[in-house]
Amino acid sequence: SRQLALFQDHKSLSCHTCSLNKEPLAHPKMLPSGATRPDVYILGEAPGATEDQEGVQFVGDAGSYLRKFLPSGYLKKIRWNNAINCRPPGNRTPTDLELACCKSRQEQDIVTTKPKVVLGFGGTPLKLLTGASGIMNWRGRQIPLRIRDHCFWYFPLLHPSFMLRARNDRKLGAGWEKVFSDDIARAFSFVENYVDPIPEDMSTFTHNIELLNTFDLTAVETALARIAQYENHGLDIETNGLKPYKAGAKILTLAAGTYEDTVAIPIRHREAKWRPDQLKKLDQIIYEYLLNSGRKWCHNTKFEQEWLAFFYGKDLLFETTWGDTMAQAHVLDERRGKALEDVTLRLFGFNIKDQHQVNVDNLDAERLDDVLLYNATDAKYTDAASHVQHATLEEEQLVPVYDQAMAHCRTLVLAQMKGMVPNTPEIQRIAKQLAKEMVDAAAAVRENAGVQAWEKKNQKHFKPTSSTDVLSLMHSLGHKIENTEEPELEKVKHPAAKLVLTVRQNQKLESTYITPYLPKGKRIYADGLIHGNFNH
Ligand code: URA
Repeated sequence: SRQLALFQDHKSLSCHTCSLNKEPLAHPKMLPSGATRPDVYILGEAPGATEDQEGVQFVGDAGSYLRKFLPSGYLKKIRWNNAINCRPPGNRTPTDLELACCKSRQEQDIVTTKPKVVLGFGGTPLKLLTGASGIMNWRGRQIPLRIRDHCFWYFPLLHPSFMLRARNDRKLGAGWEKVFSDDIARAFSFVENYVDPIPEDMSTFTHNIELLNTFDLTAVETALARIAQYENHGLDIETNGLKPYKAGAKILTLAAGTYEDTVAIPIRHREAKWRPDQLKKLDQIIYEYLLNSGRKWCHNTKFEQEWLAFFYGKDLLFETTWGDTMAQAHVLDERRGKALEDVTLRLFGFNIKDQHQVNVDNLDAERLDDVLLYNATDAKYTDAASHVQHATLEEEQLVPVYDQAMAHCRTLVLAQMKGMVPNTPEIQRIAKQLAKEMVDAAAAVRENAGVQAWEKKNQKHFKPTSSTDVLSLMHSLGHKIENTEEPELEKVKHPAAKLVLTVRQNQKLESTYITPYLPKGKRIYADGLIHGNFNH
């Protein structure tokens, strides 16, 4: 989505910048067709061959298939368009640049014709209008969107061309067709019982937020005492790592509050100017607030709980209440798409992470005010998400399922905190064994006559870990493989191929399961233990 946004910042993007501008097409720049005041706006990917010949959307095989699922009463209320208006050569997927060049045309048409819902078929229109990817995880959901002054619901759906392929799958075909048909039926029945979308107005994104960046303890105490009064509120912390057990691990900032009232507090960010005695008092204030406040909603609560219990005490897991908007999202739909940016897109029509420029992998290096604002908006929208998702869970009678998931949270955190003792002698034994196998395999490769000939010809040692060397060797041995991926190498009946696979597999085992767990490995923390992640 950032790539697309980057392109769009260039106001010069238009047909002149697009590589499809010079394509020899029967109907270039195909205009939308159908209703001029549509209820339903159908947005496809791009014209295919038949569409280009006839100059109308969805009239080829995929189009005929799709039309079978549309309720006939609606045909006069539908408008047809595609994410891009020129047919790409060979029907390839449109590039990001092509999408960016066409985007303002499609947006303008939606704003002018004001549909209630947009049905987007496939991943391409989804990317165009939301920046999201992964149509399998998005289909069947609905997203409130705003383009300038027009708000509408976006329904991501599978693409009919995918359906034409999927229905031939003997095992899954009928299942896919039911999914496709149900998704479309749900969208049309939604139009019948329409509820206006309320996508967030981004001009208010940073409203109701107070950054407590003046290093005034009284101000922090007053603000947290106020937040503590709310029955429910959002809570988020920013840290300098994923786990609190490393030397130097620290909580940089904390943000807490509701959609109407959020505060962000610097703690140990590099720019935080607390004196040591003030920092001690600040920790006390934070602990009191955490212990004596309403339900704290986090997005992935195990993270906040692990850090806060580590630095402020495990009583926080028992003596106060917590909620988890990620667990809510999981109970509502267990597919991928549970990060906060997915949830804000789904509920409020925008990707929260796209609103910030900070490098989330190194927040201590970012400017404090940027981190505080980043932190605060996460807490603000976590609070907002908790209410909307709770209402849906209630409607679907899923609150007990969510409660059950939530009940496991602190147990898992405690298990993560307790950690596991690595069996170092055994890990070292396996490390040695793998290393020996790799040395033996490398030696055996070098003894192979074909390899020796290759080395002589190329005047260098053959490296089984270099894909260039492997491809070149296989070709010189007469095996016309296309790449050096496992399935290709497995086809080759030559000992060198088998040896290469052994070396590679051992290397993978070593780097994933062995090296990180040896003393000083990256999965062994300062206390000498492994602290994993257990999911509820
Ligand atoms: N026909 C179109 O007009 N668009 C598509 O995405 C597929 C077929």
